[in-house]
Amino acid sequence: MSKTILILPGDGIGPEIVTEAVKVLAALRDDFGLAIEFDEALVGGAAIDATGGPLPDATLDLARQADAILLGAVGGPKWEPLDISIRPEKGLLGLRSELNLFANLRPAILYPQLAGASSLKADLVAGLDIMIVRELTGGIYFGQPRGIRELDSGERQGFNTLVYSESEIDRIARVAFDIARKRGSRVCSVDKANVLETTELWREVVTAIGADFPDVELTHMYVDNAAMQLVKWPKQFDVMVTTNMFGDILSDCAAMLTGSIGMLPSASLDDRGKGMYEPIHGSAPDIAGTGTANPLATILSVAMMLRYSLDEAAMAERIESAVDRVLDNGLRTADIMSDGMTEVSCDAMGDAVVSALS
Ligand code: IPM
Ligand code: MG
Repeated sequence: MSKTILILPGDGIGPEIVTEAVKVLAALRDDFGLAIEFDEALVGGAAIDATGGPLPDATLDLARQADAILLGAVGGPKWEPLDISIRPEKGLLGLRSELNLFANLRPAILYPQLAGASSLKADLVAGLDIMIVRELTGGIYFGQPRGIRELDSGERQGFNTLVYSESEIDRIARVAFDIARKRGSRVCSVDKANVLETTELWREVVTAIGADFPDVELTHMYVDNAAMQLVKWPKQFDVMVTTNMFGDILSDCAAMLTGSIGMLPSASLDDRGKGMYEPIHGSAPDIAGTGTANPLATILSVAMMLRYSLDEAAMAERIESAVDRVLDNGLRTADIMSDGMTEVSCDAMGDAVVSALS
């Protein structure tokens, strides 16, 4: 039976990069027998312009029905003046929370062809392969109460709440340990247990779950130190598991170690493996429409989709090898361009990956 993939192009470079990723999926369907169908819907600023809100009911319905979701990116300066409660980002956060996509996997892998693009010395990043497991539907992003209130003095005060229940920590910890078993068997849990009670509990629960995984080595690190260690000696990490906000910050940092944020995919999964797949970069409004965006993170997100939601590991490998071959052939979008390489557009990069599939 064919699987339905919901395409959510979003804003900025979103539609451009998603077009290339859909080309790759369509080629797998037409030439390699992948049984899929596409649906498409609006999210983010595009949805605000068309319907008044960032996550229309029609989009949410299609997202619930789909077997997997591919998202480009949301947001842009045009919608920044809007109230925070109806900005494009709320579309993304709403999808994560409504679909219960609590496990966000953000691999930071260095392609040897791009070692020179890292801001760190090549020997510090050669062979880098970190998996950040970020909790995605809880913590300070969603905790209540939240808002901006007026104090008796007349001064305004902003407030957000960092909350995690034991079950939320338990389930994300198990995801991290399971993944570690398939890789280097090491988990580093990142918290701020020296200051925040919520993450004191986080550390306690992760430690308890760790007892069920005696074959996986568990360490703990405070988030400030983790940020420092990521730029000092990133190869010490295998799997990192952390809260929603710490994961947001550390994953951008880890991404940059690999040379370009334009290369990194992500998966956001529920407890049955249904997922939303997106590049970890944003909508890059400054380059939207110029044809210079790098579609590889989105194309690699499709590979993650095939592996984690569609049970098509061989197809995923086909995409990953194709990307590898295209880089070997010297093709580069502007963000990863270096001396002696051939600069190509977003569209040409997508075509090159499609050709390299066979
Ligand atoms: C990310 C992004 C989002 C986040 C924004 C766009 C809401 O930065 O996916 O990392 O903060 O989670
Ligand atoms: Mg982020």
